[in-house]
Amino acid sequence: MNGKSSIAPIAKRLKGKVAIITGGAGGFGEATARLFVQQGAKVIIADVQDEKGVALCNEIMASSTMANGHHNINNGHEGETISYVHCNISDETDMKNLIDLTISTYGKLDIMFSNAGISGDLNSTILGTTNENFKKVFDVNVYGGFLGAKHAARVMIPRKSGVILFTASLASVIGGQSPHAYTMSKHAIIGLMKNLCVELGQYGIRVNAISPGGVATPILVNALGMDKKTVDELLCEATVLKGVTPDVEDVANAALYLASDESKFVSGVNFMIDGGSGITNPSFSFVLQNFLASQGYTS
Ligand SMILES: NC(=O)c1ccc[n+]([C@@H]2O[C@H](COP(=O)([O-])OP(=O)(O)OC[C@H]3O[C@@H](n4cnc5c(N)ncnc54)[C@H](O)[C@@H]3O)[C@@H](O)[C@H]2O)c1
Repeated sequence: MNGKSSIAPIAKRLKGKVAIITGGAGGFGEATARLFVQQGAKVIIADVQDEKGVALCNEIMASSTMANGHHNINNGHEGETISYVHCNISDETDMKNLIDLTISTYGKLDIMFSNAGISGDLNSTILGTTNENFKKVFDVNVYGGFLGAKHAARVMIPRKSGVILFTASLASVIGGQSPHAYTMSKHAIIGLMKNLCVELGQYGIRVNAISPGGVATPILVNALGMDKKTVDELLCEATVLKGVTPDVEDVANAALYLASDESKFVSGVNFMIDGGSGITNPSFSFVLQNFLASQGYTS
């Protein structure tokens, strides 16, 4: 033994890639931003929570500076590892500026992670929900995703490469678990993902979606008005796969795979990260178990 490790350093999986992450100031987007930077990407966080986004960038920069032993920050210049851009994804001027700034800074866009979204009101009845809520949810979750794809495609098509990735939801494949507008919006984004996959395949651009089940991020914790621990417990109780608590890294890891060249032949996929919950309807089992228990049967 000469004291040197015989293990070769693992190559960074996004080395040289430039990625935009919308909704990157919190939740899945934040976890993905951290992972993408670790894996060698230049990341632009696009969000409307400016203070949170800037603070996150500063924190990631500081830790990557410590890890690398050199200073990386360059205020919007090419050497910068991570930066924040204010962008309301439903505003076309904001979206155009985001993409143009990315090109003027880095010269290209490899990965567009269209992740920002809102839950909208939690009223799940057709009579109780408002038309304004419908429009608001569609404006962000559908129109925002459409604008992101349109402007990303504008710069990816000439280079004949790129990855467009959406965050959809378990609500993109099942009904009755989320409010109407949210469920419709997530079904819609899968429609866009499929259409884009077909249209943009000729340019070598891959288009996929990630569909998480419930994860205790701010969107869900705030919507339910509970603390994170309680939400985690409820999610664990409800999911098919037992013994794990779903977290933001599950989504970040899936995004890393779908954004990297490891998935070079994967396009048109709605990748479920739901612990198997989307493939079953446990209602009858629950009813049967409760009935048998009430009759004094034990399993
Ligand atoms: N948490 C869950 O249980 C869950 C499950 C399935 C899908 N999702 C989806 O995951 C995505 C990310 O959500 P999250 O759970 O990380 O929630 P989150 O609230 O932590 O993050 C969402 C981010 O999007 C940003 N955002 C909202 N509207 C925006 C706009 N108009 N322009 C730019 N940014 C905007 C928010 O500021 C926030 O930083 C969403 O699309 C959501 O629908 C979440």
